[in-house]
Amino acid sequence: MKISIIYDTKTGNTAKMADYIIQGAQSVDGVEAKAFGIDAIDEAYVKNSNALIVGSPTYKGCLSGRMKMWLESGPSSLNVAGKLAGAYATAAFIHGGGDLAIQCILTHLMVDGMMAYSSGQSKGMPVIHLGPVAISPNIDEYAELFKIYGKRMAEQALKLA
Ligand SMILES: Cc1cc2nc3c(=O)[nH]c(=O)nc-3n(C[C@H](O)[C@H](O)[C@H](O)COP(=O)(O)O)c2cc1C
Repeated sequence: MKISIIYDTKTGNTAKMADYIIQGAQSVDGVEAKAFGIDAIDEAYVKNSNALIVGSPTYKGCLSGRMKMWLESGPSSLNVAGKLAGAYATAAFIHGGGDLAIQCILTHLMVDGMMAYSSGQSKGMPVIHLGPVAISPNIDEYAELFKIYGKRMAEQALKLA
């Protein structure tokens, strides 16, 4: 079972957190995960995936403009309807709007017919409310959170598969 991650990044933080999600997802038997920058999406891989996780840096209290533009037309051409959707963000400040970026991404993906999931409080600690947010510059401090998130997304995608 495949999981795709599509991210925007300018200085590398959001790309790096995708790698941690992949590590967590691939700790689940039978799951393969790959991440693609917004300019280098392997469309066949995404179309064959059971879940799509979208990541964005937080810009001006919300997602990046590039990601917003992509979300307006990208997912609907990638066979995403009915599949599991997740979102994550990176930000410079804990109060900087990472949750709002995630909420906007999930809204887009739901409008494209996807089923939003994060695990929430259902799996105990760490509670992952809408999706994980890593705060720069010490983003490696969030590695474990992102690995757990990847594992939970993979387990849920497998349940639906
Ligand atoms: C134009 C711009 C706007 C930003 N706005 C915010 C913001 O509103 N809130 C915040 O917490 N961080 C903000 N940041 C910081 C980035 O979200 C943060 O550094 C992020 O990890 C960068 O991701 P990247 O390395 O993947 O490009 C902003 C950065 C830039 C360049």
